Amino acid sequence: MLLTNLNAATMRNGYGLVADAAILIEHGKITWMGPRGVAPHHHHSINCGGRLVTPGLIDCHTHLVYGGNRANEFEMRLDGVSYTDIAKAGGGIFSTVRATRAQSDAELVSASLKRLDSLLAEGVTTVEIKSGYGLDVRNEIKMLRIARELGKLRPVDVVTSYLGAHALPQEFQHDRDAYLDLVCNEAIPTIAAQKLADAVDAFCEKIAFTVTETARVFEAAKAHGLPVKLHAEQLSNLGGAKMAAGFNALSVDHIEYLDREGVEAIARSGTVAVLLPGAFYYLREKQAPPVAELRRHNVPVAVSTDLNPGSSPIHSLLAAMNMACMLFGLRPEEALAGVTANAARALGLGDRGVIAPGMKADLVLWDTARPGDLSYPLGFNPLSAVIRNGTLVKGKLA
Ligand code: NIG
Ligand code: FE
Repeated sequence: MLLTNLNAATMRNGYGLVADAAILIEHGKITWMGPRGVAPHHHHSINCGGRLVTPGLIDCHTHLVYGGNRANEFEMRLDGVSYTDIAKAGGGIFSTVRATRAQSDAELVSASLKRLDSLLAEGVTTVEIKSGYGLDVRNEIKMLRIARELGKLRPVDVVTSYLGAHALPQEFQHDRDAYLDLVCNEAIPTIAAQKLADAVDAFCEKIAFTVTETARVFEAAKAHGLPVKLHAEQLSNLGGAKMAAGFNALSVDHIEYLDREGVEAIARSGTVAVLLPGAFYYLREKQAPPVAELRRHNVPVAVSTDLNPGSSPIHSLLAAMNMACMLFGLRPEEALAGVTANAARALGLGDRGVIAPGMKADLVLWDTARPGDLSYPLGFNPLSAVIRNGTLVKGKLA
């Protein structure tokens, strides 16, 4: 089909706006895009009424498969107890681990679908989902299988990351090395062999794993051909991002405390900086990520919800874009690039995130004129239609 009369934000070089554009879609891919006046003729042409079109949105960092509820911790934090203290007392991630282990597949699937549907309602066509609330091999595999299953139940591509090094399980509290043995020698080989994960992630932080421990996990990932990404410099500057750059990490995420040396390292490795303003907001952090330094070094910046039950229960990628602007000073153009072109890069996906010939035909039509309108309001969804792999999956085209 040929879509015409669109205001296209192609996301090639900033917005890459093409006014009065046409997009030709054949066999699930974009085969031509440009001004309507010079578009190829096609028997199935649809006038889209001047709506804005963007690439399908990509949420490149979520923990949306989990059991339980942590609203009690929200109240504790409001009373002045810190995220770190809650974690040290066996709450936080551990609380979700207990609840996730206790739930059946069916319970996890139905709870996760509700969260996923919130993202899809705003035009997400690719979502990354991490494990990390099972920790033992059986429950990590359970989480990864469920994440893959969600991609069959809904019109969305699910990309998975194994996050066994999310927290030291309580049953290993006195034997860190034994847990890392399990991650590196049992979990990663099994998960790689069964193709359950597309990448390996870790949490490098005082309440989680050291730089040396994380490097060990990355060595195992590399040995099994899996790319890596890292939760780094969220609460303190341990130098995890620099180490991750040495493994050509796809992305380093959070990075509030990343210093100039760290920015230079990820600039050299081509690693994407993923900003997670939801966690910054919920934890009432004070130090924002080094956005000016990232710009100076031309580091690609992505934005994501970090959807999780503890530090970032936000179920809206549009809200994350707004928060990235309000809290971190991103421009709306950077926020949109952060959930399209740069989010694709953070997942190592070269076939999406921009509107161009050869790309997957994942597109969102919006009832709004200008792309900046997507980052401006909060709690307003101007979505009009979603096309995935060239097929209409939500709304109307004409
Ligand atoms: O990305 N930083 C570590 N992991 C999650 C939070 C997990 C949780 O609190 O359950 C994050 O913020
Ligand atoms: Fe996270």
